[in-house]
Amino acid sequence: MADRHWAIIVHGGARTIAPDRIVANRNGCAAAAAAGAAILERGGGAVEAARVAVCMLEDDPTFNAGRGSVANAAGEIEMDAGIMDGETLAIGAVAAVHRLHNPVEAAAEMLDQVPVLLVGKGAEAFARSRGLPVASKPLRPVPAEAAGHDTVGCVAFDRAGHLAAATSTGGLAGTLSGRVGDAPLPGGGFYADDAIGAVSLSGDGEAIARMLVGARVMRAMEDMPAPEAVRAIRAPLQRLGAEAGVIAIDARGRIGLDHNSDHFAVAFASADRELVAITHSDEWTGE
Ligand code: GLY
Repeated sequence: MADRHWAIIVHGGARTIAPDRIVANRNGCAAAAAAGAAILERGGGAVEAARVAVCMLEDDPTFNAGRGSVANAAGEIEMDAGIMDGETLAIGAVAAVHRLHNPVEAAAEMLDQVPVLLVGKGAEAFARSRGLPVASKPLRPVPAEAAGHDTVGCVAFDRAGHLAAATSTGGLAGTLSGRVGDAPLPGGGFYADDAIGAVSLSGDGEAIARMLVGARVMRAMEDMPAPEAVRAIRAPLQRLGAEAGVIAIDARGRIGLDHNSDHFAVAFASADRELVAITHSDEWTGE
């Protein structure tokens, strides 16, 4: 075992959070981070910690993913998720699914498969073949007034020095049927490489995809620690007038986060740090 350090950070989306939803956002992120931290603390793997943490966020209707997914222009849910193992560079992703309670579970099942991304009915059939529950009818979106602009994600670093990233979303409210954002795109909404670090993003999916924002943070982490590398989101977002947030952990287990949205619900913990849950980066003074 290379190191006894571990670290985890989760996000509940880059968005404006109404004052009466701040506590729910903070508590939901804290619970997910604590569940992942418990896995890492006892020596579990980064992929497992990220999968479990994102599942919890998908199960919490506070967040726009899984149970809290928003409606597209057709009034339907279309969810996307991706997960990556930084040790093997294996990727699993699903897009435009609407019968899976936990899209990240289906994405995780794909980690041992050749395809990187499955969409729609194919993804749901694959999930069923792996014994995952598939609803008989499309899941129902949250009411329009509850629809925010966010996504959930997790980055984890385990005691063996392995990294993982996972991102899951209900997409953006009111978008065209069949639209897929950045969340299931490696180098867009997520990426992990043990040699460099791992990232998960939330925000304007088209801008994140067009500017390869996740890849830019990965590139920055080749030269600088995560707390500095996350600032690589700023210029590309400014160029497109877009809004987003990023969480990251570098290859030495250092945590970073940045956002240009009004709020960014985040929780993190590590072997040497008690759990912190915040809804704006200003609440954290850094390492
Ligand atoms: N960032 C989520 C999406 O644009 O779909």
